[in-house]
Amino acid sequence: MASASRRPTDIVIFGASGDLTRRKILPAIGDLSRDGQIRLLGAGRSAMSQEAFKDLVASATGSQDLAARSGWVQLDYDSPDTYEALKPAVDGDGAPVIYYLATPPATFGSILTGLTHAGLSGRGKDRSIVVEKPLGQDASSARTLNEQLEALFDESQIFRIDHYLAKDTVQNVLAFRFSNSLFEPVWNRTMIESIQITAAEEIDIGRRAGYYDSIGAVRDMVQNHVLQLLALVTMEPPTTFDPSDIRKAKQELLRAVEPLDPATAVRGQYEGYLDAEGVGRDSRRETFAAARLVIENWRWEGVPIFVRTGKALRRQLTEAVIRLRDAPHLRVGGRRQRGIPTLVVIRFQPDEGILLRIGAKRPGSRFEMVPAGMKLEYGRLARQQLPDAYENVLSEVLAGGHTVFPSGKEIERSWEIVDPLLQSWETEGHPELYARGSWGPAAAEDLVTGQGAGRWMTSGDEAGTQ
Ligand code: BG6
Repeated sequence: MASASRRPTDIVIFGASGDLTRRKILPAIGDLSRDGQIRLLGAGRSAMSQEAFKDLVASATGSQDLAARSGWVQLDYDSPDTYEALKPAVDGDGAPVIYYLATPPATFGSILTGLTHAGLSGRGKDRSIVVEKPLGQDASSARTLNEQLEALFDESQIFRIDHYLAKDTVQNVLAFRFSNSLFEPVWNRTMIESIQITAAEEIDIGRRAGYYDSIGAVRDMVQNHVLQLLALVTMEPPTTFDPSDIRKAKQELLRAVEPLDPATAVRGQYEGYLDAEGVGRDSRRETFAAARLVIENWRWEGVPIFVRTGKALRRQLTEAVIRLRDAPHLRVGGRRQRGIPTLVVIRFQPDEGILLRIGAKRPGSRFEMVPAGMKLEYGRLARQQLPDAYENVLSEVLAGGHTVFPSGKEIERSWEIVDPLLQSWETEGHPELYARGSWGPAAAEDLVTGQGAGRWMTSGDEAGTQ
């Protein structure tokens, strides 16, 4: 990953008084601004004083220096004339400018129009634009957004955030798969029995009903984070580790993923979701989604792949479990040995690492198999605490790199993959309820067992890796 730029840079955050800015963006900017090179301009609808914004910056970042280099501009996103107010900061001394759109997607079009109207858009200048998900509501709106962005900025100036890509453990999939000759030779339909990806959260929607109830689990997690994880775990080796080659490899993989079939997908809603403040009383929004995926290519044809994600689940856990085909079981004294499937578990969070679950002989006089584990504890490789994903995102933007950003084409294709589910669920009845603290609706279990693909596996379970 690229390191932070040393050049003076202006960052303009649209939606700077919002929750995302305070929780994620400002702390990351605070960490990256220690060299004094970042100047910050907050822009938003609120009538905020300069002092109030500086206080907000200071409390979110702990940096009085950054607060002193910060300013606030009030904008009406829909009134192009108000964008003139950005000019002194943006056009000032010719320093690079980063526009960060931390606003609801419905405002993106107006903001792009406003920037163009004020002559502040990007092409041919040292300016980039950062956009936060959701990048569209479906494939067609994602295409429209891409067209709007690409009309004003070159692809190299556009940074579409998927903060999962900026997690070190996610980038480590590339190193794990393609820098070790041990794993890649078995990474295919001949040797792999099944793949499962779980992105589970213990937390519920909290106070995010305004956002979540119009989105649901598929748009919130599957279209972006889960499909990006899948792409990295299953893509072909890229020609180089350069961002453009990695993007090409992911794009090609996503092209081979068949659009999801509602008949092999499950939607759930946790009990009590309807009581959350801001949720529609009869909301049919899913807080859990599971699906079987089909990758139609040479490497993965016929391999069952399952993904699941949800809120208010039993554990906070994101991991990919790759199950290898069973070895032949040799009999001992005429008795069949206990079969112990070999699993490769890529643990993205928490307790980041890679686990190999293998069979070993139980110490003692009898020849008896027991599950045993080999573990890479990723955190131990770091000399300090692993940086927050947002810090990686921003340091990459400052350096102009694209390693941790999906391309517009990947995003469009990911929407094409989930669109059939979204369309079908729009007209279906209420999702299956599940108890908080469970692993989701019972149908999710049946989804896997019914396909003869064992059951859901997570490290730490008795069927898992410990
Ligand atoms: C966000 C989703 O993109 O990712 C949230 O909008 C989710 O609903 C979050 O909680 C999970 O991110 P992380 O980094 O905590 O796993």
